[in-house]
Amino acid sequence: MTILVTGGAGYIGSHTVVQLLDAGHEVLVLDNLCNSKATVIDRIEKIAGKRPHFIQGDVRDRALLQELFAKFAITAVIHFAGLKSVAECSVKPLLYYDNNVSGSIVLAEEMARANIYTLVFSSSATVYGEPVFLPYTEAHPLKPINVYGQSKLMVEQILQDLAASNSAWRIALLRYFNPVGAHASGHIGEDPSGIPNNLMPFLAQVAVGKREYLSIFGDDYETVDGTGVRDYIHVDDLASGHLAALTYLDQHAGVVTVNLGTGKGTSVLELVSAFERASGKAIARQIVGRRPGDLPEYYAQADYAKRVLGWQAKHDVDRMCTDSWRWQSQNPNGFN
Ligand code: NAD
Ligand code: WQD
Repeated sequence: MTILVTGGAGYIGSHTVVQLLDAGHEVLVLDNLCNSKATVIDRIEKIAGKRPHFIQGDVRDRALLQELFAKFAITAVIHFAGLKSVAECSVKPLLYYDNNVSGSIVLAEEMARANIYTLVFSSSATVYGEPVFLPYTEAHPLKPINVYGQSKLMVEQILQDLAASNSAWRIALLRYFNPVGAHASGHIGEDPSGIPNNLMPFLAQVAVGKREYLSIFGDDYETVDGTGVRDYIHVDDLASGHLAALTYLDQHAGVVTVNLGTGKGTSVLELVSAFERASGKAIARQIVGRRPGDLPEYYAQADYAKRVLGWQAKHDVDRMCTDSWRWQSQNPNGFN
């Protein structure tokens, strides 16, 4: 059984590829490397003791997909390939819609042409938008507050319509909360280019001496300590959620939509403290103004994943920080 993993050289994709190889699957990675490095494939091999097939190419390249579907006996696709910068998406909306939405359409069309109907899609908690209630259940209203979130919701809706049109489809829409952490080996992890937008990689870069201090975006929210609260989830837990989804899709047709989170909120200050414990480093920080577009607080209702997929997150915030720190301290310049 070969699984096609689009975006498999990226942060979440690479961790998932390791687990797929460990579980005995053949894996084909398709990635255009717009936000990742080819050396990731070597690191995956180093961890798993097996090398995935790797093709550098774009998921919107129809001819390439046709070639790959003809050449490999692909039974399922995990579709990570997408752009994810909240800052960039409002400046380049067409790029985001083209990459994320058109990319998914081309992929689904070519899958159907090749009679491949099992698809796991990387969605995001960002599809919910401003919380009407918390924790977010899968039934929470969907009202994304940025182009990136819109692009994810559009793909969800397209895939729902597709499944309604043909009962052969087996689709999992996985809504990730905030993925952090790294593989326990320290060989793969998150390697953002330029200045990190997200909290954990920024924190890790302060600890390793690459950045002077962490800017905390607001301490006057109505949260436990005034700072933003998120549901951080270890990337290896997230990866195992994809294997659980594939197992579920073996038995079930149609669409399943599932939150992948821990169900637990952690504030910025709580994460900073956990990181200090994990790294033994004091994190210099400064409170600055709120970041436009940030929500004060959100976290998952995680019960549905447990019920339908038999999956739940195992790792706590301390473990997330320990693994992020191992990755960052062993690879201060990421994959470079
Ligand atoms: P990432 O940028 O590390 O990985 C995405 C990979 O896709 C990269 O390797 C990139 O080179 C590749 N890619 C992008 N567009 C492509 C295209 N058109 N053709 C081929 N390859 C392409 O990001 P990630 O954090 O691993 O995220 C994976 C998926 O999960 C994305 O779809 C993202 O939107 C989604 N997601 C991420 C988060 C998060 O916080 N990291 C949260 C929710 C959802
Ligand atoms: C977490 C908390 C910040 C950086 C983003 C996307 C979301 C999803 C995951 C893909 C917030 C605070 C951050 C910093 C800070 N991506 N913070 N200083 O914003 O929850 O989610 O990534 O789907 O769509 O919006 O994650 O890590 O950026 O922020 O104080 O330097 O940390 O204000 O409270 P966010 P984040």
